[in-house]
Amino acid sequence: MTSTRHIRGIDDLGKDGILEIMELSNHFLEVSNRRIPKVPALRGKTVAWLFYEDSTRTRLSFETAAKRLSADTMNFSISSSSVKKGESLRDTIETISAMGVDAVVVRHKSVGVPWLLPKWTDASIINAGDGAHEHPTQSLLDCYTITQQLGSVAGKRIVIVGDIKHSRVARSNIKAFTMLGASVALAAPPTLLPPSMTNWPVDVIMDLDVALKEADVLYLLRMQLERQEESLVPSLREYTNFYGLTTERSRKLQKSSIIMHPGPMNRGVEISGDVPELPNTVITNQVENGVVVRMAVLYHLLGSGLAPIGLTHEDGTDD
Ligand code: NCD
Repeated sequence: MTSTRHIRGIDDLGKDGILEIMELSNHFLEVSNRRIPKVPALRGKTVAWLFYEDSTRTRLSFETAAKRLSADTMNFSISSSSVKKGESLRDTIETISAMGVDAVVVRHKSVGVPWLLPKWTDASIINAGDGAHEHPTQSLLDCYTITQQLGSVAGKRIVIVGDIKHSRVARSNIKAFTMLGASVALAAPPTLLPPSMTNWPVDVIMDLDVALKEADVLYLLRMQLERQEESLVPSLREYTNFYGLTTERSRKLQKSSIIMHPGPMNRGVEISGDVPELPNTVITNQVENGVVVRMAVLYHLLGSGLAPIGLTHEDGTDD
């Protein structure tokens, strides 16, 4: 097992770490399919959520994952906490830490927060999104979903479409996909690409219709209007015309290709209303895998390292 105390970015794991989490996820997929999908693997451990930004699926899937592993959870709602009274990040984390916590899952609008926290706590830090920087557990579940659907990430052509500039999902995914041996292309108008992409191991294809033909995986991103200070596209309708995926346009994909989206979707902008229902769209699979991959992440950081033992029920049965 590779040893890492934190999962703040994809580099904390490296290729071997990613592969280990995916292997571990297979065990937890099996656990999740049981009649009672709960094991005592993390009994006695406490996980706290520190979400300074909105979240639906990331937070709920972490919470479900922790409960399936029998961990205790410390729920912390920013809107009803002392953060509203001006408490600093440092004081908040030191307070949570003093109550006894083994891992903190953090989402924050500022880049780098997950790297700051270990100065003030001994807990393992898991990054659930820092600004437009990284979102490593989203990448892990995406790598797992691609492997499940296409057999491997290695050798695949993955086209990421849309608002790359503001996307932490794109940054973590570019790292993870290329580490596992995929080749990555970006399809976006120049205003939605970062000003500098030096050392990014990607090609840029402006024309989505050209990119579609070569994609094994078409990965759509949400237009992150809340992060845009200026208007980066002439109009949403024009963006949708050039970069939105409609059923009609999806016919240009190869038959075996899959369509992904991390959610939340802006139906009618980057994806038309009927695309999520297409047979090669795997967005629901991504959500399902979010729970098992996050079980694997928590177990990787907090578990004993003895996978099979921790995965049985208290009476020794495993069904
Ligand atoms: C993403 C996020 O918050 O970074 N969503 C997610 O975690 N599933 C992407 C987004 O907000 O568009």
